[in-house]
Parts: sequence; structure tokens; C-alpha cells
Amino acid sequence: MQFDNKIGSIQQILTATNVGVLRRQAILKELNLKKNQQIIDIGCGGGHLVEEISMSIGPSGKAIGVDPSEFQIKTAKERCKHLPNVQFLCSNANDINIEHNSCDAVTFTQTLEYIDNVDEALFAAKKLQKPMSIFVNVSTLWDFFGFHGPEKELNDMMHQIYRGQKHPMLPTQLNGKLEKLGYTNIKTQEIPFFITNKDENSFPKFHEILMVNAAIKKGVSEDLVYKWQNQLHEAEKNGKFAFTVISILTSAFSNS
Ligand SMILES: C[S@@+](CC[C@H](N)C(=O)[O-])C[C@H]1O[C@@H](n2cnc3c(N)ncnc32)[C@H](O)[C@@H]1O
Repeated sequence: MQFDNKIGSIQQILTATNVGVLRRQAILKELNLKKNQQIIDIGCGGGHLVEEISMSIGPSGKAIGVDPSEFQIKTAKERCKHLPNVQFLCSNANDINIEHNSCDAVTFTQTLEYIDNVDEALFAAKKLQKPMSIFVNVSTLWDFFGFHGPEKELNDMMHQIYRGQKHPMLPTQLNGKLEKLGYTNIKTQEIPFFITNKDENSFPKFHEILMVNAAIKKGVSEDLVYKWQNQLHEAEKNGKFAFTVISILTSAFSNS
């Protein structure tokens, strides 16, 4: 999936909703930031987390954001232009040009599941970490993501089309991958949401928009897509609507 202007802009709005904020709060709690630290956020998108990290590590700390999308990096730089302790790099996770053993923490949010060779990305990320520094990842369990309310067949089709992730159930395999790389103290915690309305500026509303765009782009007729939207609307009106998403925060310590 390409996070260009169109998808990237909606993705940045999703990150700014209450769901995105609560996820970042969980990440920041786990990072337990200190003055002078160097922290890297890989797949930083529009730089929301980098901005928050930068304001917790003091002027001699460094918050680094990495993303291969020029659009994401451009908007991240704009968001953080007032902050002197940030650096943004337009690169892939497995091609980051910073010193090895230099980071006090490496973090990914909703990024690893989109990367083809996730083992290579994890290996590259580990090299950037100082000994006994923390790794924090948040990824969604995409099998449990979605809308409830419309008729099953149509609803399943709309969700199937939206599955752009290379590793939709990554959190179920991540502990093993980290163990193999020599990480220790591997822990998981769930961040679940059960939402029963889709107001204009809500997380479900923006996913609905992305799903409609994806379906039309892949050739589903507008009539069918609007039928699904109408069913969502009717379900919400009749108290038979829900949107569920479960993300998993995984943390671990680099042993070397
Ligand atoms: C769903 S967005 C999440 C952005 C941000 N972490 C957030 O939570 O708002 C996924 C991001 O991963 C980036 N990405 C995709 N492939 C990548 C790769 N190979 N290495 C690093 N980032 C990648 C995308 O450009 C996109 O900005």
C-alpha cells in the first residue's frame, strides 16, 4: 500500500483521532522517555509520535522519524518544524543510515504489518539499538478489524478488498521473531476498541471512507458500495452497528 497524498492524508487524520491518541499514550508509557535519549520511530507517517517524543527528551535528545513516503516525510517535517531536536529520513526500514548501537528505543506503529520482509526490518532495527534498550511495536489483529451491521456477504467482500497488509496477524508471530533475534522480557498488551457510532470525525468514519475508495478503485460497482454504506447507516440508526479493532502493543529488550 502506498501512503501517498490521498491515502497518507486520511491515514494522518486516523492517527489524530482518539484511537490514535490512546495508542500513542500506551507507546509513550512503555517507552518511559528520559532526557538526552535518542529514539527512532520507523514508519513515522505524519510525525505525530516523533513530535511527542521530541518534547519529552529535552534539547540534547534526538527524535528520529523514518518513512519511505515523501508525502509523509514532508508533512512530518512541517508538523515538527518548531522542534530543534528532530530528524526525518526518507528511507525504508531496512535501509536506515544512522549509527549502529545508537538508539535508546526503536518503535513502530502500524508499520511492520505492511513491510514485505518483516524479519529483515526487525534485524535492521535491532542493529540500531543500544544494549538493553527497548523495542515497542503496535500492530493490529486485522482478522478482528471491522464493521458489524451490514449483511454478511457484502460486508465480508468490503473487508476482504481492504486487506492491504502483508502480515495481517503479525502480533501472533512477533514474539517468536523477537525471541529468535535474542530479545528478552517480551511482553504484550492489548488495546481494544468497541465503537457503536461513526460520527463525522471518528476513527470508523475515516476507515469507511478508505474502504469505499479501495472498493471503487478495485472495480466494485458504486451501487454495491453505496448499498453497503446504506446498510451501515441503517444499522447505526437502529442500534445494530459496531466497529471493532484490537491492536497489540509488543515490547522487548535488546540484549546486545
Ligand atoms: C499505517 S501508516 C502508520 C504511520 C504512523 N506510524 C502512524 O501511526 O500514524 C504506515 C506507515 O509505514 C510506512 N511504511 C511502509 N513501508 C515501509 C517500510 N518498508 N519501511 C518503513 N516504513 C514503511 C508508510 O509509508 C506509512 O507511513
